[in-house]
Amino acid sequence: MHPMLNIAVRAARNAGNVIAKAYEQLEKVEVQQKGSNDFVTNVDKEAELAIINTIRKSYPEHSIVAEESGELAGSDNDYQWIIDPLDGTTNFVRGVPHFAVSIALRVKGKTEQAVVYDPINNELFSATRGAGAQLNGYRIRSTQPKELKGTLLATGFPFKQKHHSEAYFNIFADLFTDVADMRRAGSAALDLAYVAAGRFDGFWELGLKPWDFAAGELIAKEAGAIVTDFAGNHDYLKSGNLVVGGPKVVKQLLSKIRPHLTESMSR
Ligand code: IPD
Ligand code: CA
Ligand code: CA
Repeated sequence: MHPMLNIAVRAARNAGNVIAKAYEQLEKVEVQQKGSNDFVTNVDKEAELAIINTIRKSYPEHSIVAEESGELAGSDNDYQWIIDPLDGTTNFVRGVPHFAVSIALRVKGKTEQAVVYDPINNELFSATRGAGAQLNGYRIRSTQPKELKGTLLATGFPFKQKHHSEAYFNIFADLFTDVADMRRAGSAALDLAYVAAGRFDGFWELGLKPWDFAAGELIAKEAGAIVTDFAGNHDYLKSGNLVVGGPKVVKQLLSKIRPHLTESMSR
C-alpha cells in the first residue's frame, strides 16, 4: 500500500472510531445549524480533528482543506488533503446508519489517494490512482450496463438549494420512467463508493462540495466508472454537478438531463 494511502486509512479509522462511539449515545450529540437544512455536530468537529492530527503527525508540511475547518495552508502546497469528516450528517443525527468519512489526497491538483470509510458496516473503500479500487482490500469494479433500463441509480435531492427543485424533479421524472429504481441514501461519498462496488449503476447530484466527492470520484474512476459534469465535461470541481457510471449510462443520463438544464445548472 502506498504510504500516503496508509495514513489516509489510519486517519479514516480514527475518525470512524470517534463517530461510531458517539453513535451509541446519540442523545449526547450537540447539533448546530450552519445553513439552510445544513447541520454540524460536535462529532463532525471531533472526527475532523482526529483526521487532521493523524495527517499532521506524518506530513506536517502538507496543506489541508476540511469541511469544518476550511483551508489550513502548509508549507507544501503541492500536497493537499481534502476531508469530509462525516458525510451524511443528517443520517447520523437521526440514527440512520448510513454515513462515512471521506479523505482524498491531491498532488499538484490530481487526486492520487482516496478513502471512504463506513464505520457502522466496517467497509473501507480505497483507491490509488492507476492501481484500481478496493473494498476491504478486495478489488471492486463498477457495472457497465448498455442502457438505463434495469439500472439502479443513486441521487441526492437539492435539499440545501431548493430553488433547483423544479429542474431537479423534472430530470428525476424523465429518468424514472427508464430506470428500474432510484435511491436517495444520504451520503454522496457512499453513493460514489457504491457505484464503484457495482451496487449502484450510476449516480447524479448537483451542487456538491469538493469534500463530498473528492475521494469517491477517484474510487469510482479506478473501478471503471466515468465522471462528468452536467454538460459532459470535467468542470464538476467548480459546479459540484456530477454524473457518474459506465460510459453508456453516463451518455444516456446526460441526454435526459440536458433538456431540463437552467443557466445556473449547465455545467
Ligand atoms: C451531504 C451528503 C448528501 C448530499 C449533500 C451533502 P454532509 O454531506 O453527501 O448525500 O446530498 O449534498 O452536502 O453535509 O452530510 O457532509
Ligand atoms: Ca458531505
Ligand atoms: Ca460533512
